[in-house]
Amino acid sequence: MQGCDASILLNYQNSERRAYASRTLRGFQVIDDIQAKFERDIPKRVSCADILTAGARDATLLLGGPFWEVPLGRRDGKTSVAKEADLVPQGRKNATALIKIFQERGLNILELVVLSGAHIIGRSSCRSFQHRLANYKGTGGPDPTLDRLYWRNLTQSCKRSSNLVNLDATTPKTSDTEYYKNLGKKKGLLSTDQELYSDPRTAPFVSTFVNQLPDLFYNQFAVSMVKLANVKVPTPPNENEIRLNCNYVNPTPRKKVNPPRRG
Ligand code: HEM
Repeated sequence: MQGCDASILLNYQNSERRAYASRTLRGFQVIDDIQAKFERDIPKRVSCADILTAGARDATLLLGGPFWEVPLGRRDGKTSVAKEADLVPQGRKNATALIKIFQERGLNILELVVLSGAHIIGRSSCRSFQHRLANYKGTGGPDPTLDRLYWRNLTQSCKRSSNLVNLDATTPKTSDTEYYKNLGKKKGLLSTDQELYSDPRTAPFVSTFVNQLPDLFYNQFAVSMVKLANVKVPTPPNENEIRLNCNYVNPTPRKKVNPPRRG
């Protein structure tokens, strides 16, 4: 959680990637393949952090979402600490906690709502919302802000907590504003998504995205993604480099030791 410095890709004991909170992350091989190609063609020029940032943009574009100019030239961090993965917001946080987490990183409430819109695609493990399905907050029943039929489907899909469910209940493979409309129908998968609809600080932004043309969401999403990618970017003289392999910090070059002079 040190900004966009690819610390999440470092793969060793006690790194962020090996943390419990990171257990559902997938797709590392895609990044490795892209990086291996760059290393072959233009060695030591493209950082893993740039591959991640540009990859997020390109994936969005391929799904019909907006284009944005990705500021390139970021460097890869040299540290990754497992316990920092716990700073990444999980699905049980309330709106106040989310607003605080975002504000501490220079991101405002509009940005919380628009960036949560990344959940128009992708999937979540059942573990992240299982607390909503039964005995919610000790009530003995499910979360009342969960649509009854949707709840029934989720209960069936979640026989195991590691099962995966689409974050967008209706159009999981297209970039559109259905995600925000679903919140109004009590079909937000994570409680953090659903709360955006009910909390008075975030609700006005949700209804704006529902009521305006999708272009408003797309344009704001593009602007906020650039801002998100610039949070705490490592710059010299902070420890950083262009990694030769995204999984590891570069080996320290051995110092040349001159043989002792004779005579
Ligand atoms: C507002 C705070 C956020 C919270 C609380 C949150 C929470 C989560 C959770 C719990 C999951 C499912 C993890 C699991 O598999 O169990 C998830 C998935 C995902 N999140 Fe977020 N998230 C937030 C913001 C963001 C942002 C800002 C982005 C990107 C701009 C994002 C993009 C995604 C994507 C793409 C997935 C699906 C991953 C996949 O299919 O493998 N999220 N999020």
